[in-house]
Amino acid sequence: MILFKHISDLQKHLQKLKAENKTIGFVPTMGALHQGHLSLIKQAQQKCDIVVCSIFVNPTQFNNSEDFNKYPSTIDKDIYLLETNRCDILFLPSEKEIYPDGEELKQPYDLGFIETILEGEFRPGHFQGVCQVVDRLLNIIHPDFICMGQKDFQQIMVVQKMIELKHHPVKMIIGETLREASGLASSSRNIRLSDNEKEKAAAIYKSLLYIKENITKTSFGEIKQHASEILMNSGFRKIDYIEICDAKTLTPLIKYNSSTQIIVLIAAYMGDIRLIDNMLMN
Ligand code: PAF
Repeated sequence: MILFKHISDLQKHLQKLKAENKTIGFVPTMGALHQGHLSLIKQAQQKCDIVVCSIFVNPTQFNNSEDFNKYPSTIDKDIYLLETNRCDILFLPSEKEIYPDGEELKQPYDLGFIETILEGEFRPGHFQGVCQVVDRLLNIIHPDFICMGQKDFQQIMVVQKMIELKHHPVKMIIGETLREASGLASSSRNIRLSDNEKEKAAAIYKSLLYIKENITKTSFGEIKQHASEILMNSGFRKIDYIEICDAKTLTPLIKYNSSTQIIVLIAAYMGDIRLIDNMLMN
């Protein structure tokens, strides 16, 4: 694996590969790599000749500076994992490299409804920051494919919208959510959970399964109430949302309709760690 810290060096290398007609798959990350990231690398390898992974903890997508400062960093382990999983290129830029003119976003992205709900509601500005950094990375790397995980379902929709707005000639590959044996979704934030908290946090998965089993049988109000009881009785401290939505638009739904693809999304706090997860229902 070749590690690049500077855009100019990375671009020189990529130009050579593109001249040889190699296809480029890109996996953007903030590090603290886990099985979910590695499966995205694998998917990119299956589809492309060359895989580029970026590690950059993007300050502009954190609406809370404490969350940014506490974001886990395991760079030596990350490099080892990328090497052993045969990633071709790691891009590890500094903040100055990504934002040479400062972090301020000059022109906000017109994301519409999608950034007003769920994560957008609870983390104001978060998706503008995500778009800012992914837009910048796409302009640097110009990959053929970008690979992102379904765990951040809303993020994928937002990035897809940004790709359309900015006419990036890139296709999205969506990786399924990887889970621990307990059902807990793989996440960089899991590093900050104790073993006991990790066990309790699997209640998100249990509540998603409960909803899936009962979605056609019970009213959405009752289902959400019972799912929130599952979470709170398992030691979650606070629930930001349990929402049943149209998977195409993320519009919240109030009753079951078999012709609509439905997704349930949850965000809740185990101690001070905010976890998110989702599941398609049909
Ligand atoms: O999902 C993430 O890790 C980040 O939001 C991303 C896409 C790498 C942008 O910083």
